[in-house]
Amino acid sequence: MHLSRLKLRDFRNYVRLDAEFGPGCHVLLGNNAQGKTNILEAVYLLATLRSFRGCGGAQMIRQGAKGYFVGGSVVGQGVSEIKAYWSPRERKLSLNERPIRRLADYFGVLRAVVFCSEDLALVKGPAQGRRRFLDLLLAQTVPGYLTLLMRYAKALRSRNALLKQALIDLVELDGFTLELVQAGEALIAARREFVPALAPRVQSAFRRIAAESDALSLHYQPGVAGDFAVTLSQSRTRERALKTTVVGPHRDDLTLLVNDRAAAPFTSEGQKRTLAIALKLAQAEHLADVHGTPPLLLIDDVMGELDARRRAAFVPLLQHSFRAGGQVFMTCTEENWPRQLGCELQRWKVEQGHLARGAE
Ligand SMILES: Nc1ncnc2c1ncn2[C@@H]1O[C@H](COP(=O)(O)OP(=O)(O)OP(=O)(O)O)[C@@H](O)[C@H]1O
Ligand SMILES: [Mg+2]
Repeated sequence: MHLSRLKLRDFRNYVRLDAEFGPGCHVLLGNNAQGKTNILEAVYLLATLRSFRGCGGAQMIRQGAKGYFVGGSVVGQGVSEIKAYWSPRERKLSLNERPIRRLADYFGVLRAVVFCSEDLALVKGPAQGRRRFLDLLLAQTVPGYLTLLMRYAKALRSRNALLKQALIDLVELDGFTLELVQAGEALIAARREFVPALAPRVQSAFRRIAAESDALSLHYQPGVAGDFAVTLSQSRTRERALKTTVVGPHRDDLTLLVNDRAAAPFTSEGQKRTLAIALKLAQAEHLADVHGTPPLLLIDDVMGELDARRRAAFVPLLQHSFRAGGQVFMTCTEENWPRQLGCELQRWKVEQGHLARGAE
């Protein structure tokens, strides 16, 4: 799978960009604040309809413009044309000129894994980031998961809106509760099955890059102890007082332990970074295994920050990607690539919102 064409209009600092890319490894070189990460952000947006910087649509519109457009051609089994337009008033998403109404019909056209400084929040930050990591990977690999997740989110929104009212219609509440429990139990089951399957991959990536004495373990930590329906009914008084649903898989977490202690408070910055990279390496390897083709790898400035050992951990993944006809985009301010990459680099120069082919 690769992105053969990228078209941007009024996206971040790009007035317009039309670029064509082959498979292989593309290096985006440029000084700070020129628009390197913005390109990775646009590619990731095509894959997931989200920014990996955690910001909303409005921030991605070029200052002074009304809306942004990001389009791309994806070569996989056939060619898919994706077009996404976003403005505060209007959102349009199409696949091969057909409007997309159900997100589940769109997901999977382009699969990408990003390595960026924000990954550190997977270890340091709140549970939400780890839930998103799990949900994205499950949505990218388990048919029906995204639909389930959206059903749960909708039931949760409706139920919480109802709990905020002064007079609560109990029949309506029962209806939302039933839907919440049905979708929620299926989510819990999927996550409970998935985490132990993912754990060995993360552990193996971690072993390759961490100090030898460090041992990592990962556990699914459900936001419901016991039966969801029962726990929910037991929480009635508390949820009335707080006016929100207080138990459920929207409170799930993924526990990360290094040497049997919680990773966030007890590890060094370097260990946290190693763990974050291990999670992402595992994500990329899992996607490649399940689908038989490697995902796009978007590597933002990461290499500059890593020591030789951790850089070397990327090499098997990159080489597998090259052999399988995959595609990699990486940004850097100066070329600091390990020689052992063993692939031809296609160099691009990024300068003030313009992309140009660089010297071979
Ligand atoms: N909505 C926007 N409209 C116009 N310009 C924007 C917008 N959002 C960001 N920018 C500009 O984009 C530039 C930053 O782009 P980007 O983050 O891609 O830089 P970079 O090349 O990755 O730099 P670094 O090496 O520092 O990471 C900045 O000049 C910033 O002002
Ligand atoms: Mg950047």
